[in-house]
Amino acid sequence: MTGRAAPAPRVLPDPHPHTGLPVRVRVHEVGPRDGLQAESTRIPVEVKAEFCRRLLAAGVTSLEVTSFVSPKWTPQLADAAELMADLAADGTLGRRGVRSVVLTPNLRGFERAVSAGAREIAVFVSATETFAHRNLNTTVAGAVAAAAPVVAAAAATGIPVRGYLSMCFGDPWEGRVAVADVASVARRLLDIGCTTLSLGDTIGVATPGHVLEVLDAVRAAGARADQLAVHFHDTYGQALANVYAALRYGITEFDSSAGGLGRCPYAAGATGNLATEDLLWMLHGLGIETGIDLDALVDTSRWLAGYIGHPPASPTVAALTARRAAEVG
Ligand code: HMG
Ligand code: MG
Repeated sequence: MTGRAAPAPRVLPDPHPHTGLPVRVRVHEVGPRDGLQAESTRIPVEVKAEFCRRLLAAGVTSLEVTSFVSPKWTPQLADAAELMADLAADGTLGRRGVRSVVLTPNLRGFERAVSAGAREIAVFVSATETFAHRNLNTTVAGAVAAAAPVVAAAAATGIPVRGYLSMCFGDPWEGRVAVADVASVARRLLDIGCTTLSLGDTIGVATPGHVLEVLDAVRAAGARADQLAVHFHDTYGQALANVYAALRYGITEFDSSAGGLGRCPYAAGATGNLATEDLLWMLHGLGIETGIDLDALVDTSRWLAGYIGHPPASPTVAALTARRAAEVG
């Protein structure tokens, strides 16, 4: 034995591309919105702004910044206007090549968002009646009716609109959700003018076959694959398998949150979104470009954990952190 340490093996996944997969996909980072909305520790606005800046510095180009919802319903995001002002002050908001999205449930939210400088918005409705009531205090039809003038107002000013459809795969109160119901509300969101539909597994119960069934139904209802994104929470550890099924199907936009932060405060039992780091590990391993630096993202999630008071849920963050510690030690 010479005592010389063996060279450290490469940490990042070696790319092993598959035929038939896209060369590049869009990762829509929802950490500052979906990730933080249910955190009970109040996160100062300057920390949220720094979180957004770090995400962009890591290469994120599609970012969900906050929500212009009722502060009584989602107190953690009551500082939406201040956050936007902070990000506008140094040109972070509206940076070339970066898409910044904010949630707007009604015209009041839309007007607040536009005065704060929003350039892209999202409306959100549910495939189930119970969640429409719990999340928006209305019915499915009422939520679509509330979204319609928001989408119209956005279209009038050239603002693109993401339409979120929640509870596409299961509902904590109603159980199974009929695929036909998902397809029918998806159709209504397209009819009112949403430019992208994000199909939400709000409580993380989907499995890959179910994902394909829902995608087939939504496509049959008239959505093009390039109008669709998927939004998987990872409650049962199925989110990556579901992404892979969707990738193979031709979907190229994936929602995730740094570190695996997040849940919906109005969806009992749901855990965080698919962690962006876990998503990147798989995508980069498949040789698919995202433009995001995995190491920089891990640093960001670990930095934020110091403010939210619990470690990131992502196994990839844990593994890369342990590996770095072993290399230093
Ligand atoms: P409501 O109580 O039926 O409505 O809430 P309201 O009109 O009576 O308003 C209540 C109060 O809020 C009033 O104030 C309004 O002025 C005010 P008061 O008169 O009592 O002082 N208000 C607002 N304030 C600021 N901005 C606004 C706004 N609207 C009303 N835009 C409402 C209806 C839609 C407002 C409420 O239900 C709401 O805000 N819900 C949002 C809940 C939320 O943030 N959920 C999480 C996001 S969705 C999600 O996470 C799922 C997703 O990730 C996809 C997935 O995983 O499936 C997207
Ligand atoms: Mg969500």
